[in-house]
Amino acid sequence: MTQTPVAPEKLFAQVLDPVSRANPYPLYARLRETPVSVQEDGTYVVSTYREISLLLHDPRISSDERKSAHGAGALAASGPLSTTPPFIFIDPPEHTRFRRLIMHQFTPQRIRGMQEHIEQTVHALLDARKQQHQLDIVQDFAYPLPVTIICHLLGVPPEDEPRFRVWSSALVRTLDPTESLSEAEVQQAVQSRTQIREYMEKLSAARRTHPQDDLLSGLVAGDDPDGRLPEPDLLATMQLLLIAGHETTVNLITNSMLALLRNPEVLDRLRRNPDLAIPMVEEVLRYDPPVQFRTRTTLTDVPLAGVTIPQGASVALLLAAGDRDPARFVEPDRFWPERDDNEHFGFGGGDHYCVGAPLARLEAVTALKALARHLDGPRLVTDPPPYRRNAALRGPEHLQVAFERLND
Ligand code: HEM
Repeated sequence: MTQTPVAPEKLFAQVLDPVSRANPYPLYARLRETPVSVQEDGTYVVSTYREISLLLHDPRISSDERKSAHGAGALAASGPLSTTPPFIFIDPPEHTRFRRLIMHQFTPQRIRGMQEHIEQTVHALLDARKQQHQLDIVQDFAYPLPVTIICHLLGVPPEDEPRFRVWSSALVRTLDPTESLSEAEVQQAVQSRTQIREYMEKLSAARRTHPQDDLLSGLVAGDDPDGRLPEPDLLATMQLLLIAGHETTVNLITNSMLALLRNPEVLDRLRRNPDLAIPMVEEVLRYDPPVQFRTRTTLTDVPLAGVTIPQGASVALLLAAGDRDPARFVEPDRFWPERDDNEHFGFGGGDHYCVGAPLARLEAVTALKALARHLDGPRLVTDPPPYRRNAALRGPEHLQVAFERLND
């Protein structure tokens, strides 16, 4: 039986539908046929590399969801979940000042200083599975690793981590435009936000009186020449960093493992040359990125690719579609770590470029070198794996991998 093709104005709804989660890329290819397309609900979807790049650098496009009447994130920006927005949802010039204050704490030395802790955590996680012949890459490895690291970096005691896991997954759902949340889920998110805030208030008060060598102590010390983050913004930033640390790197590690197991010849090359992990992680950020799209609002009418996006429109920048654009990348659907000129949107672009990129890269490269070296004869148990519902922060819920043994 032939299926009726999805109408162009319904394609994004199809992307958001959980049935498309395992492979949204054919839908992205259809969306690219019209670089800027208006969807049934009024969202403007931008799906080609050139147009996404232009908008990421265009000051007429806002990240402040309070300026959007509807669409993605409106729930987080108004109603029961409204609060001081973290700086990912703020525009210049305020964004520029806050970001500078945060970057002063996110120094290259501090990130490089995490290397040893990352290696120890990777090895402890693998050692704990020594006697087994199967592991769930997500639950047993790719989730606990970044969570341990982000808690350490920020100064959250590791014993409190299980509480963050619950809070983080309740909150991250509110960032997903595909979710129509039930009343109970909204309540859970409101409660999580209060709990996380109260927790952070206590922790920052403790660091103010007893500073330690962590990012929170640096932020609360307020000795930065550019001034100091106001308390509500400090709390919002800590929440953002915790969630970003919880919900993205897990997918980078898992998507990398999935790509390796589907491309065993690349895994062989990685075994022989562990430094291939560096370009390989970049290729995963292009080929199967953890952040598939971001949303923005137009501050004025914006003409682009023959369409005028009206003021106040909700715009979805389909980063993952741009990264498969044949006008920009040679053989875009091929997983090819050795490709040249791989300037992808995996960490966004422009003013809001990911603050955590060096940390995420370090974690993923360390993790993949170790997995390639220690897992003997790995194979996927289920392909495609089951996916989480979130379409924007997309990744498998589980990735079961069977293997002969864990090599020393
Ligand atoms: C593989 C892991 C990660 C990916 C794929 C990723 C991706 C992204 C992307 C695409 C953006 C741009 C958002 C936009 O333009 O609206 C972003 C921003 C951001 N990311 Fe990440 N991220 C990752 C890990 C992290 C980590 C570990 C942290 C924190 C430690 C972090 C903190 C942030 C922050 C604070 C921003 C907002 C920057 C701003 O608005 O100026 N990210 N990230």
